[in-house]
Amino acid sequence: MSTGENLILGIESSCDETAAAVVAGGRRVLSSIVASQVGIHRKYGGVVPELASREHLRQIVPVVREAVAQAGITLRDVDAIAVTRGPGLIGALLVGVTYGKVLAMALGKPLVGVNHLEGHVHAVLLEAHAGGRRPAFPAVCLIVSGGHTLLCHAKFEGAESAARLSYTRIGATRDDAAGEAFDKVAKMLALGYPGGPVIDALAAHGDPRAIRFAEPKMKGNPYDFSFSGIKTAVLYHLRRNPQLQPEIEARRQALARGECGADALRALATPATLDLIASFQRAVVDDLTARTLAAAAPYAVATVLVSGGVAANSELRRKFEAEAQHHGIDLFFPSRVLSTDNAAMIAAAGHARFLSGEREDFSLDADPGLSLA
Ligand code: KG4
Ligand code: ZN
Repeated sequence: MSTGENLILGIESSCDETAAAVVAGGRRVLSSIVASQVGIHRKYGGVVPELASREHLRQIVPVVREAVAQAGITLRDVDAIAVTRGPGLIGALLVGVTYGKVLAMALGKPLVGVNHLEGHVHAVLLEAHAGGRRPAFPAVCLIVSGGHTLLCHAKFEGAESAARLSYTRIGATRDDAAGEAFDKVAKMLALGYPGGPVIDALAAHGDPRAIRFAEPKMKGNPYDFSFSGIKTAVLYHLRRNPQLQPEIEARRQALARGECGADALRALATPATLDLIASFQRAVVDDLTARTLAAAAPYAVATVLVSGGVAANSELRRKFEAEAQHHGIDLFFPSRVLSTDNAAMIAAAGHARFLSGEREDFSLDADPGLSLA
């Protein structure tokens, strides 16, 4: 198969999704396979690192095989292998990095290491290019996931054919990531794991103005975030309202029976709980939107990219879209499937680095604390 476009095999194993994808020319997704471990971690209410590594080991070979088969190619057709080298769980990352190295060595193919957070940015670029609506750079990027909440300024550097993005930090969370706050509040309310999608679905049935959570008051950088305060405020709200405990217990039992769908959980939630969920979501969404859009003017950018698992949130999308218009901002989100972890974004980010001449040798190591900016 030869279209003149470079074929990149992307591999992702930084957290609880084993993923592989083949992307042509950095923008055509030929295949994207995601084997989620949610079913395994759900009963613990969060990712158990040892179980994640073991599951990645079981899944990595069939997932890569399926990605290659669905793309209608063979491993020999691949021009390079791009693998997530960090940040993430060390044991989980090591599975992808080691398999990527082994494949590159066995096939004699170039190897590119990718920062998972840059992958999230490329999820936006990949689809924007494919859809013909290209974001103008420099841009402000909000990467908002289960492990990270990072606001950065991104600009292209280098000659056009080999240009790559470089990032400067504008702000970041000082405590919990936004997705982590969704997951922890969901755990307190017995809404299952991961919490974001269920809170998203249930919030639509509550009054987002019912409970007012105080905005985080922080000294210093106005573009930093903090979500641990709101999580604690939800905890105090539950302590002050013991009448909410019986339904929490009922949902806990439903979850133990495997009834974890949003409709089943909603049937076990009173209006008071739906109001709490909607108010929590609104507070997080308002804060993310306000700080991100406020950064555009001082950084003199007219483009904002939002990506990462929390970018799948309906209210976050609605609020950003409404506010971006007021600010004269050109706004970009990935589709929902490419918001959460996947390997197409890793292949797309790897493609840009491949074109800029980056190559790893076999000393490439997983870096759980790798930063982007
Ligand atoms: O990017 P991602 O798949 O993995 C990390 O890199 O962390 O993000 C996962 C996070 C979880 O915290 C999950 O609860 C959250 O994204 N999430 C959502 C939604 N879908 C996933 N949060 C809010 N609303 C959603 N619809
Ligand atoms: Zn992620």
